[in-house]
Amino acid sequence: MKGSPSFVGVVAMEKYLINPNQRLSKINRDIYGHFSEHLGRCIYEGLYVGENSSIPNVNGMRCDVVNALKEIRIPVLRWPGGCFADEYHWKDGIGPKENRKKMINTHWGGVIEDNSFGTHEFFELCRQLGCEAYVNGNVGSGTVQEMSEWVEYMTFDGVSPMADLRKANGQDKPWKVKYFGVGNENWGCGGHMLPEFYADQFRRYETFVRDYNGNSHIYRVACGANGFDFNWTEVLMKKAASRIDGISLHYYTVPGDWGHKGSALSFTDDEYYTTVEKAYRMEELVRRQSEVLNRYDPEKRIGLIVDEWGTWYDVEEGTNPGFLYQQNSMRDAIVAGLTLNIFNKHSDRVRMANIAQTINVLQSMILTDGEEMLLTPTYFVFKMFADHGENTLLGSFSTSRNISENGDLPQIVESASITDDGTIISTVVNTSMSESAEVRCQVADFEASEITAEILCGDAHDHNSFDKRDAVGIKEFKGFETLNDGFKATLPPCSVVKFVIR
Ligand code: AHR
Repeated sequence: MKGSPSFVGVVAMEKYLINPNQRLSKINRDIYGHFSEHLGRCIYEGLYVGENSSIPNVNGMRCDVVNALKEIRIPVLRWPGGCFADEYHWKDGIGPKENRKKMINTHWGGVIEDNSFGTHEFFELCRQLGCEAYVNGNVGSGTVQEMSEWVEYMTFDGVSPMADLRKANGQDKPWKVKYFGVGNENWGCGGHMLPEFYADQFRRYETFVRDYNGNSHIYRVACGANGFDFNWTEVLMKKAASRIDGISLHYYTVPGDWGHKGSALSFTDDEYYTTVEKAYRMEELVRRQSEVLNRYDPEKRIGLIVDEWGTWYDVEEGTNPGFLYQQNSMRDAIVAGLTLNIFNKHSDRVRMANIAQTINVLQSMILTDGEEMLLTPTYFVFKMFADHGENTLLGSFSTSRNISENGDLPQIVESASITDDGTIISTVVNTSMSESAEVRCQVADFEASEITAEILCGDAHDHNSFDKRDAVGIKEFKGFETLNDGFKATLPPCSVVKFVIR
């Protein structure tokens, strides 16, 4: 609660009800997806160091990073942008590396992009990670032919100019592209288009994203709204709904304003609450965007694809402002935990999400410094939530009070799901910086024989650094009592807790 930051107290018991009789939507594991752009040190240095690097790698991909991402069961990776996608020309990134064109990355730091990481490298990365590919095409500065040929190059299993070119470049079999983005932020860096114009462009470009033999239907993602721009969604749905599989949504949590966003580690209590409240606006945003979609697509065929979300702070001192490198604290873990709970609760509509970005950029899972690597608090949240993937969402409800002075922020943000064999997974976030939460959880018509729990918690400023890499991490949680029909727990301030109820 604002105004009483140093007080660590206990408030009245909150009720938390889980109803296993109410089986709602399936949670698509792609909700826990990631985003990697040619931006700063995300691709280069972060994921890809090249075959000749002294940093241990397989075909140029960092082994430590690949292993860490496999640990959190990364389901899907979006590439190559972001704003970069709408100035990326894929043919620059294929063939012998020494012949690949060099270009200036005008969006991000004005550095030279040597195209040594291109289509083949991206699919090699997905292969090593065991994840699905989400490729974002170029509408802003690319042609229909260019996009069409890229899809042919990646997915056609026959004789054709692009399939032959792919084979000549060493890849005989086509790859699987699960998702394809038709442009990115075309209301902004992707061309400053008006929704009517983009809707027409989408219809045109999408027509040439072919489903070739040997490759199942490519899920087409239309560029959706900037946050609360409901008109964009409305126009797009009106003009193109029948051709859309998914519509994207971008929403970043910026504690200050774009000129002065605020520091990743040095923040006041008020800034903490502003950040977490702004992150919680995702609930209203997804609900209201879904309301627009419901009017045109009541069957919920079209997915809401939140393919960029996360915290955005000022860059760390001394780093390139165009590289968007920021540290990551328990505050970010709270943002991640409450956001993933919101996505779970809306999994009838939210079919995929991609946090921005995987490594060294914005709200990252991993930070690197040369050959060193550390895992952020956000990484551990993704690790905890992975168990929800492919489960069925259960009806659940908490009586949590609002702890925001000016807006809407429940102290407890939760979701619960059930596996095919009847195990219940419940993830509960205590958003308060200073107050524990006493929670009485009741699972309807259920006799709990065994409950285990794990926790990520600490002071909101706690983080991992290259000097102290394991200041924050998941621990076993013992602060609860198993009851016949659930549990009673005391959740520490600023915590994310996962209960496994059998
Ligand atoms: O994630 C950083 C940038 O934020 C992306 O390139 C762009 O799509 C968004 O504005």
